[in-house]
Amino acid sequence: MKVLVATSKPFAKVAVDGIREVIEGAGYELVLLEKYTEKAALLKAVADVDAIIIRSDIIDAEVFDAAKQLKIVVRAGAGYDNVDLASATAHGVCVMNTPGQNANAVAELVAGLMVYAVRNFYNGTSGIELLGKKLGIHAFGNVGRNVARIAKGFGMEVYAFDAYCPKEAIEAAGVHAVDSVEEMYKTCQFISLHLPATDETKNSIGKKLVSLMPKGAVLVNSARKEIINEDELIQLMQEREDLKFVSDIAPAASAKFEELFVGRYFATPKKMGAQTAEANINAGIAAANQIVGFIKDGCTKFMVNR
Ligand code: 3PG
Repeated sequence: MKVLVATSKPFAKVAVDGIREVIEGAGYELVLLEKYTEKAALLKAVADVDAIIIRSDIIDAEVFDAAKQLKIVVRAGAGYDNVDLASATAHGVCVMNTPGQNANAVAELVAGLMVYAVRNFYNGTSGIELLGKKLGIHAFGNVGRNVARIAKGFGMEVYAFDAYCPKEAIEAAGVHAVDSVEEMYKTCQFISLHLPATDETKNSIGKKLVSLMPKGAVLVNSARKEIINEDELIQLMQEREDLKFVSDIAPAASAKFEELFVGRYFATPKKMGAQTAEANINAGIAAANQIVGFIKDGCTKFMVNR
């Protein structure tokens, strides 16, 4: 049994050591393809493997075609929009994610982005504080819940909206639930996005919602760039000089945002929410254990292409 770790953005070494311990402990072979830049390298590496652990690496039909022995792909992380699920199913391959394992890391980065934005990107000028401000969490999953916990530590008033999470569950977490997403955007000076990128959510964060935010609005995106309607956000930021946008992934029109919104826009050069040793260890080892559980016992918990 051969397991490949294919990570263009590699895990911390300590996480790879943990993955190796699980995989070799089960009697399997571990091979690494780290920091690869060409798809050809991935296509070659997958040719004879039974399982693959990935991060945001693109696994499309061409990869499934090339991976003749493949049985399972585990995305060590939450979002699996980088995997062609229909093709996986057509090839008889099980796809899993490891929900929650890197959530705290992403949430801590969100806190950092909020502080960075309200302290004027550390340019030495007088900013504002988070204490007492209202934060709206758009989608209340694992990351959203961790953001809520941390924001409460700052003394923020936390609100959340999730189309798939009942109000009672949000209230039970000690967070204000709202009746509509519009109400949350109207209420909150800070909005943190935690939606997955799906057909339903792509381009869904645009003028209609963001324009509702109160004065001094800060929009934080640690999800996927595709959920933002960039043209509309650019237009709105041109109209509203009070609006700031901070993101843990450069938007497609990053150069334009940089040029037009100096002092109001920041994006990490490379998505780094989940780039901590702890998140890498949690997600990487969970992925390795899920592979062993699937191959040895047929366990399909966390399968996303049923
Ligand atoms: C996720 O979906 O888990 C996060 O966006 C982290 O992605 P990464 O593993 O590519 O850093």
